[in-house]
Amino acid sequence: MTIPIILDCDPGHDDAIALLLALASPEVELLGVTTVHGNQMLDKTTENALRVLELVGRSDVPVARGADRPLVRDLQVAAHVHGESGLDGPELPMATAQPVDQPAIDFIADRIRPGTVIVAVGPLTNVALYLEAHGTANVERIVLMGGAIAEGNMTPAAEFNIWADPEAAQRVFRCGRPVTMIGLDVTHKALLTPAWADRFRAAGRVGTFVAELVEFFKLYHARTYGWDGAPIHDAVALAQVFRPSLVRTEHRNVEIEVESELCRGRTVVDLWRRTERDPNADVGVDVDSDAFFELLLERVASLG
Ligand code: BDR
Ligand code: CA
Repeated sequence: MTIPIILDCDPGHDDAIALLLALASPEVELLGVTTVHGNQMLDKTTENALRVLELVGRSDVPVARGADRPLVRDLQVAAHVHGESGLDGPELPMATAQPVDQPAIDFIADRIRPGTVIVAVGPLTNVALYLEAHGTANVERIVLMGGAIAEGNMTPAAEFNIWADPEAAQRVFRCGRPVTMIGLDVTHKALLTPAWADRFRAAGRVGTFVAELVEFFKLYHARTYGWDGAPIHDAVALAQVFRPSLVRTEHRNVEIEVESELCRGRTVVDLWRRTERDPNADVGVDVDSDAFFELLLERVASLG
């Protein structure tokens, strides 16, 4: 049985790769794409989603624009990671298709059906607004890329997606539906290295596009961590939806820090059960990186 999904994203290099993985995976049915501020301004992340769909001839997949700013914080984009376009690197024509004429939360309400998984790989503003307006009916679970047990990439304490809109994240983790958190502890192990990039290039036109995305995306990671490769964060979350064995998870309590400025957006994961707080998330702790990239390569190759 295929799993209906909504992909809520802010493309973004790894978001684009997650989108390709969704399109190429028969285990999931992509009901639509919703866009959010994050890696770049909403206009750009929306345009990028449309451009990627057009690249692979899938402009039939509807794209709905979501929130252009966080719930209460000031907007801050990640141009230092993803460039001015949000998808710097490969040559990619501007899209000819348009987003649907409906805000993301109304779009989700119209399209969602029983068993739907919301895959959220940007700041959680759209998801929080959707839950507030429409509740959790038909939301099977939420799989999100965000947070970390013991790392930070925006600050020493916080990962970008959660840092960008911590109040939204707090609502999502408290929503009462199953939440799977794919954080940096996991995604920083899913590095697309030059050896993998060669294999993607050899896999065809779309594989070459992925390798070109990584060529740019890895620059930030080389500067910051000294890595020769880039973590494909968001695609790990997408893969977990239909191949959960790739990621080892622990059922734990996660609270979001919204008070302190120093630790803004920290995902406080009670890994060692130091409190009585009830578990509210399946937290990723490890990933089979080679199996993930074999899967990704196979699926990207199938796109031509
Ligand atoms: C997350 O932030 C963005 O840069 C990526 O697209 C990913 O969703 C990683 O912290
Ligand atoms: Ca993202």
